[in-house]
Amino acid sequence: MKIVAIVGARPQFIKAAAVSRSLKAAPGIEEVLVHTGQHYDDNMSRVFFQELELPEPSYDLAIGSGAHGEQTGRMLEAIERVLVTEKPGWAVVYGDTNSTLAGALAAVKLHIPVAHVEAGLRSFDRRMPEEVNRVLTDHASDVLFAPTATAVANLRREGFADARIHLVGDVMYDAALYYGTAVKSRSPLLEELGIEPKSYVLATVHRADNTDDPDRLRAIFDGLGKVAAQIPVVLPLHPRTRAALERYGMAEQTHRGLHLIDPVGYLDMLRLESNATLIATDSGGVQKEAFFCRVPCVTLRNETEWTELVDAGWNRLAPPTSSEAIAAALLGVIEAPHTAPADLFGGGHASEAIAQALLGVADRAPSS
Ligand code: UD1
Ligand code: UDP
Repeated sequence: MKIVAIVGARPQFIKAAAVSRSLKAAPGIEEVLVHTGQHYDDNMSRVFFQELELPEPSYDLAIGSGAHGEQTGRMLEAIERVLVTEKPGWAVVYGDTNSTLAGALAAVKLHIPVAHVEAGLRSFDRRMPEEVNRVLTDHASDVLFAPTATAVANLRREGFADARIHLVGDVMYDAALYYGTAVKSRSPLLEELGIEPKSYVLATVHRADNTDDPDRLRAIFDGLGKVAAQIPVVLPLHPRTRAALERYGMAEQTHRGLHLIDPVGYLDMLRLESNATLIATDSGGVQKEAFFCRVPCVTLRNETEWTELVDAGWNRLAPPTSSEAIAAALLGVIEAPHTAPADLFGGGHASEAIAQALLGVADRAPSS
């Protein structure tokens, strides 16, 4: 059975790397990888293919950046052409980006069954572009691979039949376990930065809600500056955020102890995460990786779709209302004690479960 897998943004390369390995090991599955080109800088794309042994994409659509409609529309057109040529049995899409929605929509219109990896996530905030992508992708999909029990409950609430829902666990946990073992030997980043393990805060910021609102952006960066006066803060800067800081005249961040660095590869990121005292982020993936590394997390948002980490006490929401609120949230968590919670994201075999499930539904495919 031929599967076309569609990726385009940084977190999708990591998810696809885990699943791709399992698809390769499954008898009778041929994977054709399509890169939409949503992310294209070397440190947002190429580095992941090199580090994670992800196969070179068979199609590099080079769509690039753009407004939502423009970017998604161009992807839709280009992905459709690939699907018409390849005639796969299934299309597989990951997560909640514009590449996810374009892949699902292109496939469903051609009557190619769609499998959605990381289905059922909901922030219940329709102003988030990702929330719209999640909801529409789930409803265009035939098979929904849910990472958590919460995701399953969300899907049931929206009327999905149980037969379409597969609770498989989180493929990002698979990736963190698999690549985590390579981290110490292959990532010299801490030494290069001159930072000692367990003596710094790691931060990431890229969510449109934070970067496109100058008040929120200023609250976050001034808040991180206050924290950096007490403990170093390392922040690999997403290109969206770098552009926003420049746009709003905030590019000159001179706070002592605030290390703004270029985006890093996944192995460097895992090393940064596992050695941090605390992680502050608005990223979906990084919230979970903080927990995988058993590092407490502050989420720089009003809400999160990964609610189980908040319930377990490992994640605290800090809406970026002011720099004081951000600094207080981060410095407060550093001092807080933590108990060990149960595993919430499966056993690290989500990718194998996905490959097996796809083999199991292969007879529903319209062509081989
Ligand atoms: C996208 C996803 C988001 C995901 C994130 C992962 C959507 C709607 N958003 O957000 O869900 O969390 O990826 O990182 O799909 N840029 C570059 N170089 C690149 C890529 C982007 O300079 O290689 C800049 C461009 O100015 C671009 C901006 O970043 O306009 C935003 O990129 P885009 O892919 O549209 O959205 P992300 O913020 O990356
Ligand atoms: N990541 C990375 N380098 C960085 C920042 C993040 O490799 O400089 C990884 C991170 O470890 C996680 C994924 O990218 O696996 C998360 O992607 P991102 O935060 O861009 O998107 P989200 O998960 O919010 O969709």
